[in-house]
Amino acid sequence: MLHVFGRIILGPNVSPATPIHVRTVHSPHTADLSSEGRTTIDTDTGGRNRAITAGRMQIQIPGQHRSECTMPAPIISSTHRSSILMVHARVLHPTRPMMMELPAPSPTTSFLAVVLAAALFLASILRLRGRAARKYNLPPGPRPWPVIGNLDLLGPLPHHSARDLSARHGSLMSLRLGSFPAVVASSPDMARFFLKTRDLAFVDRPRTAAGKYISYNYSGLFSSPYGAYWRQGRKLWQAELFNARRLASLEHVRGEEVRSMLSDLRAAAAAAAAAVALREHLFMVNLNVISRMVLGRKYIVDGAGSPFTPEEFRWMIDEIFFLHGVLNVGDVIPWLGWLDPQGYVKRMKRLAKMVDRFLEHVLDEHNERRRREGEGFLARDMVDVLLELADDPNLEVPIHRDCVKGFILDLIGGGTDTSAVTVEWAMSELLMNPDVLAKATEELDRVIGRGRLVEEEDMPNLPYVEAVVKETMRLHPVAPLLTPRLSREDVSVGGYDIPAGTRILINIWAIGRDPAVWEAPMEFRPERFIGRGGGVDVKGQDFELLPFGSGRRMCPGIGLGLKMVHMILANLLHAFAWRLPDGVAAEELSMEETFGLTVPRRVPLEAVAEPKCPEACRFGSPLCCALRHADLASTCV
Ligand code: HEM
Repeated sequence: MLHVFGRIILGPNVSPATPIHVRTVHSPHTADLSSEGRTTIDTDTGGRNRAITAGRMQIQIPGQHRSECTMPAPIISSTHRSSILMVHARVLHPTRPMMMELPAPSPTTSFLAVVLAAALFLASILRLRGRAARKYNLPPGPRPWPVIGNLDLLGPLPHHSARDLSARHGSLMSLRLGSFPAVVASSPDMARFFLKTRDLAFVDRPRTAAGKYISYNYSGLFSSPYGAYWRQGRKLWQAELFNARRLASLEHVRGEEVRSMLSDLRAAAAAAAAAVALREHLFMVNLNVISRMVLGRKYIVDGAGSPFTPEEFRWMIDEIFFLHGVLNVGDVIPWLGWLDPQGYVKRMKRLAKMVDRFLEHVLDEHNERRRREGEGFLARDMVDVLLELADDPNLEVPIHRDCVKGFILDLIGGGTDTSAVTVEWAMSELLMNPDVLAKATEELDRVIGRGRLVEEEDMPNLPYVEAVVKETMRLHPVAPLLTPRLSREDVSVGGYDIPAGTRILINIWAIGRDPAVWEAPMEFRPERFIGRGGGVDVKGQDFELLPFGSGRRMCPGIGLGLKMVHMILANLLHAFAWRLPDGVAAEELSMEETFGLTVPRRVPLEAVAEPKCPEACRFGSPLCCALRHADLASTCV
């Protein structure tokens, strides 16, 4: 509703009861002119949450001439449903319009009118602010403090704190994160509402300093606001980067890197008498695969021609992950942002310069090959594909160089840590549950046999290993609150209002451990996904299990992520016999988490890995050959 009041000066032949048509930018309305020229006009914009800006407004008395007046200022904020507008309009006499125009008011009258208008405008804004605070029936939640809101209630593991608070306030809970309203959903029904039923209303992302400074001003998919650029980006990712043909064409890269990891592990296990630290191996295999698939080579190993040494490259990657995962004060209390009290923004700006130098080098190298090869050029990696796309003149939104760089960072960021963290949790659970480990190993021996390693095409025949992965993702989702979304309009659910501009967090970690949803939720039981439970999948359709999210913003790398997790885990189990270090009992193994861009174990996992390939069969089996000479694996017989 837009309340319009002010003086509408009528010509002498016009009765005050005459209906007057008022046309705003958005839609025509009819309003009855009540006494003293005060009237109310419905300007509901159909939930599109558009601000009505200052501009022309037409007023017409039926059958007579149309007159125009000017709206004095932007009048509707995106979060308010109503506003008050002072209109100074003159309706000209129908038959003699020019002559009937009233003389211009004197300077004193004008001055008084302006003061009065300003006072009324201010008073109405103040009234509306009060009303706006009361107007929304927000979901229940803890009382917020000024400035920090409820930040004090969120401990170092916010998904745990949110679960405990939701137990008191309900599965739809309001929070205030610094200056911003937020809601936390922690039931499958609520997750379905936000991610499916009203997905489009919640498809935006909040702006963050990392998105601005590191991701080329929100040019990556991850941080990009909802709009034509993001929609086009999603389509291109699905159609060009992650289509089944391209993923299949890069299978050899994944196979080679997994074999190389197994070979390194074997060497590390031989060198370390007691136990190996798995995390670094898992991180490196994922980084190497993604580097080769995206950039064409492993810059961390082969730094030739690169502006950075492998050590500097590794520092840059670590810094990208760290700074994307921090809670930067300016992101939640923007008016404190300029102080940068934690120094994160300064670090981001420094990192951004380094990242840009590196990516410029990568793009130049790729463009140089394209130029050299001319007509015969064939895209070998994802940067080649992105550069070809950037040249396409038919794109709805042009892809500039910075956009290509933003996408590259998404590919590296999304594809490395997520899979590594998941496999480390899977191995931890298996070491704590030796019976489950034994069943998985038995399946591998039965289906694959001792003669070879596991290939991607074997995965459909390994349902128990697949169930181990699902069970790991239920208990240890890498993004326990998904990635925050932002509501684009006011939405109501269950009698509560969720105003536009609210951050939405879906606590999939709490859903995964909810006894109302899962039987014996704290037990690691892959069997729940076999047989009757086999129908529950991680692909965004089952709202009790959403490790990749769901809906329009769902993870676009799910296909690659699942391939990597399955392949790495299955081969680790197939090539080595695993146990906890001597003196560490299963029930003593720490399962504490630490919160960041992903949620890995707080203490890196250490375990004893005994190669299942004994010295004696050195030249006898392709499995052993593969483990010893990763580079020659394809030539082993
Ligand atoms: C085990 C592996 C992975 C897991 C568990 C995972 C999980 C997720 C989750 C939970 C989201 C947020 C979804 C939402 O907001 O609803 C997400 C988004 C995203 N993921 Fe993944 N991911 C994985 C692998 C990958 C890979 C391999 C890539 C790319 C190489 C990738 C790229 C992305 C991108 C770009 C987004 C943002 C999408 C958007 O906002 O439109 N992820 N991922």
